[in-house]
Amino acid sequence: MVRNRAVINVDMPKGTINKNIYGHFAEHLGRCIYEGIWVGEDSPIPNTNGIRNDVLQALKNIKVPVLRWPGGCFADEYHWKDGVGPREQRKKMINTHWGGVIENNHFGTHEFMMLCEMLECEPYICGNVGSGTVQEMSEWIEYMTFDGESPMANWRKENGREKPWKLKYFGVGNENWGCGGNMRPEYYADLYRRYQTYVRNYGDNQIYKIACGANVDDYYWTEVLMKNAGRFMDGLSLHYYTIPGDFWLGKGSATDFTEDEWFITLKKALYIDELITRHSTIMDKYDPEKRVGLIVDEWGTWYDVEPGTNPGFLYQQNTIRDALVAALHFHIFHNHCDRVRMANIAQTVNVLQAVILTRGEQMILTPTYHVFDMYKVHQDAELLAIESSCAEYEHRGETLPQVSITASKNGEGTVHISLCNIDHRNEAVVDLEFRGDSLARKQVFGTMLTANEMNAHNTFEKPDAVKPEPFRQIELGQHTLMAKLPPMSVVTLAIVEN
Ligand code: AHR
Repeated sequence: MVRNRAVINVDMPKGTINKNIYGHFAEHLGRCIYEGIWVGEDSPIPNTNGIRNDVLQALKNIKVPVLRWPGGCFADEYHWKDGVGPREQRKKMINTHWGGVIENNHFGTHEFMMLCEMLECEPYICGNVGSGTVQEMSEWIEYMTFDGESPMANWRKENGREKPWKLKYFGVGNENWGCGGNMRPEYYADLYRRYQTYVRNYGDNQIYKIACGANVDDYYWTEVLMKNAGRFMDGLSLHYYTIPGDFWLGKGSATDFTEDEWFITLKKALYIDELITRHSTIMDKYDPEKRVGLIVDEWGTWYDVEPGTNPGFLYQQNTIRDALVAALHFHIFHNHCDRVRMANIAQTVNVLQAVILTRGEQMILTPTYHVFDMYKVHQDAELLAIESSCAEYEHRGETLPQVSITASKNGEGTVHISLCNIDHRNEAVVDLEFRGDSLARKQVFGTMLTANEMNAHNTFEKPDAVKPEPFRQIELGQHTLMAKLPPMSVVTLAIVEN
C-alpha cells in the first residue's frame, strides 16, 4: 500500500483563515426561509419571535459567521419596501424563479436582522440591480443604517426599530450575467459603478461592497469587472456548483448514484481549486495588493430534486459524499485564504447542499452539517504550511489524490489538522511529520465522520445514521503521527498540551 505523507510546519503560518469562509446563504426559495427558518410567532413549532428554536440552536452551534440573504435569483426581483411594516398588511408577490409560489413577505428586513442578531453573525444583504432602482437600493441602506432624522430612518423607527443596525456586507446584484438581468460584463460593470455610488456609509457604518462576479470559468467577466470597476469594490463574487451530471439533462440523484458518479462528484469538487487560482490570477493583475476579496458566495452540490418534491424548491438529500465535497472545499478555501475572504454554502436549510433538513416540526442534521461542526475550529486560525505527497485514488484509469489535508493553529496555540480520504474502497494511511514543534507532552484528540455505504445519509426516521464519532486510529511518536483513515472519511485532530 502506498502511504500518504505530509510535513506540517507548525512554525510557518501562511495567513489567517477568515471565519467567513464558513458562511451561509439563505434564499426565499422552497422551504429554506419559510418552514426552514421562519415559522411565525403563532406556529405550534417552538420558536422565538417566529424563528424556529431547533434550527436556531443548531446554527448557533456551528458558529455561523455570516449569512447571505434574500437571494440568489430572488434578490433581483425583491423589493424590500414590501417586506417591512405590519406583517398582515405586507404586499404579496410571485416568486417567479422558484416555483411561482406566492411570497407573503412575512420575513423581511427586520426579521432577517433579528435572526442575525440571534445568531451573532454578520448580515450579508444582496441588493436588487436587475429589476430595482438606484433609489430603492440607496433607501434600503438609509433605512437600515442611518441614525438620526431622515425619511427612511423615521420609517424604520415607526416599524419598531429605533437604533440602526450594523450592516457590513452588501452585494450589488446577483448573477447579473443570468437571472439578475442577462447583462454583458461591460454593461454590468458600469451599472455596478453607478449603483454602488449610492450605497453610502452612514455614521461609523462601513460597508464592504461586493460586486457580482463570474459564473464558474467565465474569466472574461472577472477581467472586465476588475479592469472597469475594481477600484469601486471590496469584494468580487464567484459561483460554482458541483453537479455530477448535466445541469439541463439530469444532474444525478443525491442518494441513488454509482461509483462513477461518486468519483466524478469529487473530481468536480476539486475543480474549484483551478477556478479560484485562475480568477485570482486575473485579480492579481489589477489588484496585486489583494485588497479585493474573492467571495465564493454560492457553492455546493446540486442534484436532481428528491422524487415527488416541487422541482422549483431544489430540495435534495445529503450523504457522506456531500460531507467530503464540503471538506475538500474548505481545504481549498484555506489554501487560498490570501484572496478568498468569504464563502457561503448554498443553502442553509432544505435547499441544495443544506446543513439542516426539516419536516414539519422535525429537524435533522446532514453529514455536511457535521463537517461544519468539526471544522469550526479553523475559523480565524492561522493556516499552517504543509508539504504533502499523496497516494493515488484510482477509478477506471483516472486518478485523484486519495487524501487531502489542512492544518491551522489557533490563538491559544492549539493545532488542528483535518484530513479526508475520498477513496470509496480503500483505507488511507497517513504519516504526518511535525516540524517546528515536538509532539512530546502533547495529546491528540480525534473526531471522525464516516460511513459504510457511499450513499449513507440521515433521515427523519434515522437521524443519526451518519454522525461524528471519536477517532482513535492514531499512533503518536516524538515528531510523527500516523493516522489510518477508513474509506470515505473526514477526520479532525486536535493537538493539545498534556
Ligand atoms: O442557489 C440557487 C440559485 O443558484 C441561486 O438563486 C442563484 O444565484 C444560483 O443560480
